[in-house]
Amino acid sequence: MERLYSRRDLARFAALALAVSAVPAAQARGRSIIIYYTRTGTNEGIARALQGLVGNAPLLRLEERDRYARDYDAMTEIARAEVEAWKRRELKTAIPDLSGYRNVFILSPLWWGHYSVPMRTFLMDHPLEGKRVFPVATSASSPASGITSDLAKLLPKADVKKVLLIHTADASNPEAALKGWLSREGFNK
Ligand SMILES: Cc1cc2nc3c(=O)[nH]c(=O)nc-3n(C[C@H](O)[C@H](O)[C@H](O)COP(=O)(O)O)c2cc1C
Repeated sequence: MERLYSRRDLARFAALALAVSAVPAAQARGRSIIIYYTRTGTNEGIARALQGLVGNAPLLRLEERDRYARDYDAMTEIARAEVEAWKRRELKTAIPDLSGYRNVFILSPLWWGHYSVPMRTFLMDHPLEGKRVFPVATSASSPASGITSDLAKLLPKADVKKVLLIHTADASNPEAALKGWLSREGFNK
């Protein structure tokens, strides 16, 4: 019978198969992850739009273990006290191993001018050393200065890009703002 492949070909195939199987899992699944907290859905919509632009990046929604009060006024007063005292609110979300990701997108509403408490809790536990961090935040009207200072305090060893602040009223069509910001901040997969 005619031999289809030489011994050398077979050795090459074996080497190729080994190289393919050695591709680290994170590379195979992409180098970016999108982590977000939302209370009323705004940041979830932005996270999904971002995923459409970034491509191969999983979404991870942070959720608090003990839910906040449903009543808006009661909730905002509790949140105010937590923000001001730098309190934690534990998460029920299981955080995957982040070591394989180069780019970490973090999305959160502003609460009392700063990060929402669940996002702050996540950042307290994950300083994201050596990673490129792309922060997006939403607010009704406040500027990003409070979260810029939170980031400097919480992520001193990360390469934190400029915050993209989107006002809630503009959040239903975030693609153009996201695209411009990704390009200004030098995002590449
Ligand atoms: C507890 C709390 C505090 C807030 N504090 C501020 C604030 O200081 N400045 C502001 O402009 N908006 C503030 N907001 C409005 C939210 O930042 C804004 O509605 C955001 O887009 C909601 O995002 P989400 O739908 O993803 O939760 C606050 C909202 C809540 C619930």
